Amino acid sequence: MSSGAEVEVIICADSAEVGEVAAEKIAGICRKAVTPVLGLATGSSPLALYAGLARRVNEGTLDLSHAVGFALDEYVGIDTSHPQSYAQVINTYVTVPLKMDPSRVHVPDGNAEDLYAAAAAYDLMIEESGGVDAQVLGIGTNGHIGFNEPTSSFSSRTRPKTLTPQTREDNRRFFADDEKVPLHCVTQGLGTIMEARELVLVASGEHKADAIAACVEGPVSAMCPASILQFHESATVIIDEAAASKLRLIDYYTYVARNQPM
Ligand code: GLP
Repeated sequence: MSSGAEVEVIICADSAEVGEVAAEKIAGICRKAVTPVLGLATGSSPLALYAGLARRVNEGTLDLSHAVGFALDEYVGIDTSHPQSYAQVINTYVTVPLKMDPSRVHVPDGNAEDLYAAAAAYDLMIEESGGVDAQVLGIGTNGHIGFNEPTSSFSSRTRPKTLTPQTREDNRRFFADDEKVPLHCVTQGLGTIMEARELVLVASGEHKADAIAACVEGPVSAMCPASILQFHESATVIIDEAAASKLRLIDYYTYVARNQPM
């Protein structure tokens, strides 16, 4: 049980359980809100969580038809019809399966003539929605959240950014051999993300262990943008045992046994 005054860490057996525990947490937040506003992450980490939400929608225990969604980020210059554009990814894994209203699900515009103005308008739209109730986050192997790469300002707002070689290499697997991984993106800023009322970060696998240790137990540093979670009043990190393997306070955190209520 979190006191709300620390990053709550929940350790699960595997990525499927991470998805299930995170889905129940997000569903609970959405059920309490009149018009839930969800912050949406892309990447492979939240897919099991979205599948868990979709199951609840199909079973009739969760209704997101009036919910609003804001994606964290988008590549610059990618056609929105490209299957790896985040507009498409969000549509495929979130909007359609969760039966959300497409006109209420927003993704930053990576093709705007004035990327800075479009990014500022995106922040304003989030603000005017009443703010994000639950922000889903993954984490990059270099500690990025959204596409806020190391050295991002903790007070940053939605803006264009350049991706690091590490992130482009990590994301190469999503693109065809003859395709270039985009070099630029538009991402919600760390300041924007921190305004969400609840943060829920999910991660699985040993390749995330260093980033998770730096996020939860490391010094708060722009070199690990996710370490800003330590300043949030309601941040939960839901990870599998492999991603938890480099945490020093491992015995202190909550373990979840499958099917056991939280
Ligand atoms: C991507 C996204 C992030 C995501 C991260 C990890 O590049 N911009 O929002 O959290 O990298 O991705 P994955 O979950 O596939 O490891």
